[in-house]
Formats: sequence, structure tokens, C-alpha cells
Amino acid sequence: MHNESTGGLTVLVTGGAGFIGANFVRWALAERPEWRIVNLDKLTYAGNLENLDGIEEGARYRFVRGDIRDRQLVDRLLAEGVWGIVHFAAESHVDRSIESATEFLETNIVGTQVLIEAARKAQVARYLQVSTDEVYGSLGAEGKFSETTPLAPNSPYSASKAAADMLVRAAFHTHGFPALISRCSNNYGPYQFPEKLIPLMVTNAMSDVALPVYGDGCQVRDWLHVSDHCTALAAILERGRPGEVYNIGGSNEMKNIDIVRLILSALGKPDTLIRHVTDRLGHDRRYAIDSSKIQSELLWRPQIDFESGIRSTIQWYQENTRWWRNIKSGDYQGYYDRMYAARLEAAR
Ligand code: NAD
Ligand code: TYD
Repeated sequence: MHNESTGGLTVLVTGGAGFIGANFVRWALAERPEWRIVNLDKLTYAGNLENLDGIEEGARYRFVRGDIRDRQLVDRLLAEGVWGIVHFAAESHVDRSIESATEFLETNIVGTQVLIEAARKAQVARYLQVSTDEVYGSLGAEGKFSETTPLAPNSPYSASKAAADMLVRAAFHTHGFPALISRCSNNYGPYQFPEKLIPLMVTNAMSDVALPVYGDGCQVRDWLHVSDHCTALAAILERGRPGEVYNIGGSNEMKNIDIVRLILSALGKPDTLIRHVTDRLGHDRRYAIDSSKIQSELLWRPQIDFESGIRSTIQWYQENTRWWRNIKSGDYQGYYDRMYAARLEAAR
């Protein structure tokens, strides 16, 4: 819907204080001058206002601390006249979902349904569900996930994301709700919480702390720079066909162990920092994305090759030590110390 103060469109971003959400808010404020962003985030352990440093509150941007499950709050925000929703807010870490799934079901499933119902009532014009390739399960040595690959999630995290996708699909089918679903492969880049593979390994290596590689380290992920994810999401929000799913990927398959070695070599640190620890339960072996649909329909292409993307990402963590040291010295550290101590012990 039209916004009087900016003359443009209001976009509600959920989870905009997390890794991808914050990168998307930054991208949108720079690249879409006609958008006004309302950022709704609960600030869980993964939400961090420092990810949004330098962004001023004003006519084009507003931060609201709150829970996507709070229907009254969501109704109030949508009553301001929202054109589109980009729904990032989620519990996002597989290992945490294996420890305890409750928050994943609450936020990822119930939270999504609250947003759908509120958005239908407010007649929001576009709704983008930011999903993941993990809903497709695991691949063998060959093949790629396409949009028609049957869903076969293997972790509580991916099962909760798949359930949310099904609710979005049902709302489109039943009510003609103008929803789109994106399913992206693993992202990397600035502001990623250092519990995920790449920032964990970079920051541990910088601190000369052991790098915990699960199992043999030969699991494969298809890595995409977060800024390429942002341009894909904008293309889907603006030009995608409602009711459709769009896969997003970088065609950049890498084994975990090769990424870890590359990081150590870029930082001039020895391979002796690598520790093979107990594998993740139910660990998916390989993800690979066929992104030909978004490429041909929406003319999207990734712009950042992995070699330069990983180099600039490592440099970002080198130049922003205060950002990750603050996180790593915070409350969440107890969780890691416990988890990694248990994995190391079991692997002995
Ligand atoms: P993240 O964990 O870094 O950030 C999640 C954000 O959501 C945090 O700011 C958190 O405070 C907020 N949040 C959590 N629960 C909330 C609630 N109930 N109400 C309001 N806000 C809440 O996650 P991310 O890596 O930036 O991922 C964002 C989205 O993209 C997720 O939906 C994830 O499933 C999806 N995704 C991530 C990747 C990846 O590689 N990281 C790849 C594909 C898709
Ligand atoms: P992660 O960043 O958690 O993303 P996802 O599980 O959603 O793909 O993990 C990426 C890969 O790295 C995955 O195969 C698990 C592996 N991994 C490790 O080997 N060690 C670690 O400490 C972490 C966090 C992940």
C-alpha cells in the first residue's frame, strides 16, 4: 500500500535483526528508495541491534521489538498500511533444534500462521516466506533439489520450516493469499551469528581455539553470499508469481572440511587446529540447488563468486572483532561450552 510520508511502499520485515534479515534491511534501504521498512524482531539470542548499526530510525525505517506470535501487535503494525511482508523471523540453528524443538515449533510454525492470518485480514499485497533448501532433506552423490522435489525434512528445524511452507501453500490454495516461497541454500557473509559453520570457524581460528568438524567433514553444502540471497528475495517479492516456490542457490558445492582448510590457510593458521568431533545426529549429507527457475523466470543471477566472497567475509570478521567478541563473551557461550565439551568427549 502507498505510504504518505515516503510516497512509497511499506514493507514489514520480520527477523530483521538477525543475519540475513539485517543484510536485507541494509540492502533495501540502499537499493529501494521507494520502500519504507518496518522491522519486527523479538531479539532472541540470535537477534542483535548491532547488526543494524548506522541505520537511523525515521521516515524510511522503524524498529519494533516484539514477537511474530503477538497477533495484536502484528495487527497494529499491518493497520499502518503494509504492501509486502518478508518473513525471516525463525529459530534457525539445526543443533539447537536437536537439543530442544519447542521454540522451533512455536516461532517457525505458529508464528508463520499468525502472520498469514493477520496479513490476509489486512489484505497485504505480497507475502514472501523465506524458507530453506533443508526442507527437501538430503541428497546422495548425484542430483539437485528442484522446486518439485518432495519435501523430506530430517531435523526438527527443517521439519518446522517445511510445516510453515505447507501452511503458506494452504493459504494460497484455500484463500488465494498472495504468497511466495523462497528456498535458499546455505548463506555466508557479514553479521552471521558465530554458531554457524563459517563464522564459527573463522572466529575460532582467529582466537587459536579448536575448530570442531562434525564426523568426517565430507558433508556438502551449496554456499551463497548473503547479498546474492537479498537480490533474489527482492526479485521474488517484486516479480514472482503468487503461489510459486523459487529455489535460490550459488551452484557452489563445497565439503565442510575444504571450507575449514581454506579458512585456516587464509588466516595463516595450522591444520592442527582441526578437531573431528562426534557427528550431528541425523546429519544431512549433501545439499545442492537447481536454481534454473528463478534464473529463467526472474532473470536473477548470483554476482559474488565464492573465492572473493569468502575472502571479503573473512576480512569482515577480522575488521569487526568487537562485534563477534561481544557475542562470544555473552550468555550464549555457556551453551557452546557444554555442547562442544560433550562432542569432544564423545569423540575421544
Ligand atoms: P538468525 O537466527 O540469524 O535470525 C533470526 C532472527 O529472527 C533473529 O533476529 C531473532 O531475534 C528473530 N526471531 C526469532 N524468533 C522470533 C519471534 N518469535 N518473533 C520475532 N522475531 C524472532 O537467522 P538467519 O540465518 O538470518 O535466517 C533467517 C531466515 O532465513 C530463517 O527463516 C531461515 O530459516 C532462513 N534461511 C537461512 C539460511 C542460512 O543459511 N542462514 C538459508 C536459507 C534460509
Ligand atoms: P550449519 O552452519 O549449522 O548449517 P546447516 O546445518 O543449516 O547446513 O552447518 C553447516 C555444515 O557444517 C553442516 O554440515 C554441519 C557442519 N558443522 C560442523 O562440521 N561443525 C560445526 O561446528 C558446525 C556449527 C557445523
